[in-house]
Amino acid sequence: MRASAVAQPNIALIKYWGKQDVAGNIPAVGSLSITLDSLETRMTVEFDDRLGADELQLNGEPAERMLPRVTHCLDNLLGAKRSPAVIESICNFPIAAGLASSASSFAALVVAASRAADKQPDTLSLARAAGQASGSAARSLYGGFVELQLIEEEGSPAIAVESILQENAWPMQVIVAITATGEKPVSSSDAMKLSAKTSPFYASWLEHQDHDLEIARSAVADRDFSALAAISEHNCLKMHSVMWASRPPVVYWNKATLACMETVRRLQADGVPVFFTIDAGPQVKAVCLPDFADQVRKALQETDGVIDTMASTLGGGARLLGMS
Ligand code: DP6
Repeated sequence: MRASAVAQPNIALIKYWGKQDVAGNIPAVGSLSITLDSLETRMTVEFDDRLGADELQLNGEPAERMLPRVTHCLDNLLGAKRSPAVIESICNFPIAAGLASSASSFAALVVAASRAADKQPDTLSLARAAGQASGSAARSLYGGFVELQLIEEEGSPAIAVESILQENAWPMQVIVAITATGEKPVSSSDAMKLSAKTSPFYASWLEHQDHDLEIARSAVADRDFSALAAISEHNCLKMHSVMWASRPPVVYWNKATLACMETVRRLQADGVPVFFTIDAGPQVKAVCLPDFADQVRKALQETDGVIDTMASTLGGGARLLGMS
C-alpha cells in the first residue's frame, strides 16, 4: 500500500537544546513551539518486498545522505523486519538551513509510513517515533502552539507532547528572512553534544528552562503578546550564548542575521508587535500579529543581506493526504 502525508516545520519559541539520552534522542529540556502552515514537506511511502533496500528521493533526486536516518526511523516505527520502502519527499523550502526541514520530514514520514504499513498508532506514538529521529520533529505532529514535556515512564525518561492552543485560537504570522541558502556547517545534533560537553553556560541553561516554559505557557494562555515576545527572545539569545561559549564555538549567524535583528528592534521601537527567534542556522524568524505582517515582511525584505522572505500563518500539524 502507498500512503502520502504532509507536515509543516515548527519554530521553537522556548528551545530544545541538549539531550539527556543520546541513544534514544530524548531532549534534556522541554520546549514550546508554533507549527507553521504554508511551508511543508510531503512524503509518500510505499513498501515493496521486491526491493533490496530502502530508496529515498528528495525533490526528485536520490538522497543517499539522509537515507540512513530515514531507514532508522522506519525500523523504530515498524520493526527491522518490515519490507523495504520507496520514499519520496517533496519540500517547498530550503533544506538543512535552520528551517527545521528535518522536523517536517520526519513528522510526515511517520504518518505516511504507518498508514502504508496498514497501522494507525496514536499521535503520541507517532510523535515519539518522529522525535527519536529528530527531537523537534515530535512537535510537528501537532498544530498551533505545542509543548513538549519530559516525563518518566516505567523509570525511563520519555516525552509527552500536546497542542496547548489551536492554530486559530490566537492567530500569528511568521516571516522567515532567508539570509543564506547553503547547508549549515555543524548539525544541531553535533552542536548540542558539543555544548553539553564544553559550554560553561550549559548547566545554567538546563536550570532555567522550566521557568522560561512556565512564563511562555502563561503568556500563551493569556494571549499576552509582549510577555511571549520577551521570553522567546530571551530564550533564543540564551541558547545562542550557550553555543557561542562552546569550544570550538558554534556561531550560526551572519551579518544579515544581525541586521534582521536590528530591523525587528526598530519595528518594536515603532510599536509593532513583533519578535525574533533564530534556530541552528542564520535565518531569522519574525513572529508578529497578522495585521502587521506586510509591514514586517517589507522591512525584512529591505534589510541588507536578506535573500528572500517567506510568510506563514500557524498550521494544524501533520496529516494524511491519501492512500492508494
Ligand atoms: C535549535 O531537532 O534538529 O531548532 O534531535 O538532534 O535532530 P536532533 O535536533 P533538532 O534540533 C532542533 C534545535 C533547535 C531548537 C528547537 O527546534 O527546539
